[in-house]
Amino acid sequence: HEVRPAVRSSAQVLVASNRGPVSYTLETDGSLDAKRGGGGLVSGLSAVEDKLWVCAALGDGDREAVRRGVGEPGVRMLDIDAGVHADAYNGIANSVLWFVHHMLYQTPLEPVFDAEFRRQWASFESYNRAFAEALAEEAGQGAAVLVQDYHLALVPGMLRELRPDLRIGHFSHTPWAPVDYFRLLPDDIAEQLLHGILGADRAAFLTRRWADAFIGCCTRILGGTGRTRIGVHGLGADAGFLRRRAHEADVDERMAALREQTGPGRRTIVRVDRTELSKNIVRGLFAYRELLDERPEWRERVVHVAFAYPSRQDLAVYRDYTAEVRRVADEINAVHGTEGWTPVVLHVKDDFARSLAAYRLADVALVNPIRDGMNLVAKEIPVVSDHGCALVLSREAGAYEELGSDAVVVNPYDVSATAAALHEALTMADDERAERTERLAAAAVALPPQQWFLDQLDALRREA
Ligand code: G6P
Repeated sequence: HEVRPAVRSSAQVLVASNRGPVSYTLETDGSLDAKRGGGGLVSGLSAVEDKLWVCAALGDGDREAVRRGVGEPGVRMLDIDAGVHADAYNGIANSVLWFVHHMLYQTPLEPVFDAEFRRQWASFESYNRAFAEALAEEAGQGAAVLVQDYHLALVPGMLRELRPDLRIGHFSHTPWAPVDYFRLLPDDIAEQLLHGILGADRAAFLTRRWADAFIGCCTRILGGTGRTRIGVHGLGADAGFLRRRAHEADVDERMAALREQTGPGRRTIVRVDRTELSKNIVRGLFAYRELLDERPEWRERVVHVAFAYPSRQDLAVYRDYTAEVRRVADEINAVHGTEGWTPVVLHVKDDFARSLAAYRLADVALVNPIRDGMNLVAKEIPVVSDHGCALVLSREAGAYEELGSDAVVVNPYDVSATAAALHEALTMADDERAERTERLAAAAVALPPQQWFLDQLDALRREA
């Protein structure tokens, strides 16, 4: 049977994503505290009129907001059953799809596609269906709908059936797995995912490499990409916002505090990530440890400032990873630390102003993900750096395609090579570091978020 929901509104541009632009916390006095998020999509969409953002209620605060009818204009939060959402988000999206695209599985224990997986997959389908139905209700005739990321891979196909008049785009913010890895998935699931995205008029990616991998999967598994166009839009840093925000008083205060912590005259190696397995934080710490072991001249002269902000802590594997990051940092401090020198300054509590402070004072930025769709930290640091910053960059980050020529490039699995790259970055001559930072910053802002979004919208309207 086919459901054809009544068209309720007339939005001309719709965005759909799991995480929305605002989240609510239920305070002890019963009030709801709204927190607005940042990110490329938020600033990208700010230039667009007549828009609606459809997202999921992610916690108790969000659900309470939906029940009380509290919300922001232009945002519709879907109160999907908490169990269904947990299966779809934690179970399928973050434990399966994220792992496939970032190639994070470790045999012999993973992956296992069993009855429990099938049960979660059914939730993933109904979660995607809830989005497709809401979008079908809200979209005006012929509207453009931009569906975001792996969480919503089935939405384009479902939405096309409900509303063939719409122009539908899908954007992947992650890498796309090479076909031999993608085929770990059960055959019917792999096909369903590809067909889901191919329900869009346009499927877009952050780099050519991820787009080619997607085309490779479609070609081998389905025989082609059908009528769907494939696009590449490499999201850049928001220079205006970052430069302004990085010079506000709270950032200056945190810079002073960080300088105090690192000690006068010492070099700093900075990293800022979610505590995310794909970010490769532990191997980064191993590389730093090897630098201190093998090149004792750096002892007392350098500090590794590592910000690893909590992420996806409902999943045991993420909690374990966070604990491992802490353990290795503590161990380095125990082995190498002296009375006046703490080799690793690790912070796990999210603080954007402090991140910007670290960006400004970094001598070296360490961005060494195993795989990463883009990695905006690699782009943001050169933009706000006070005195130039050498970038150690994984060749497996999407940002490598644009920044590789001015970075010190590493294979993220190669700890010794990463240690050597840190040494090279630390010893880079001041003028060379400054010149490279300038070129990195120019490349990093080539496609600012608003343009990135408008380009996609234009292409969708033109090509569809
Ligand atoms: C990646 C994904 C986004 C996601 C973000 C944070 O960048 O591509 O879709 O929102 O990670 O992860 P979270 O699970 O907290 O939304």
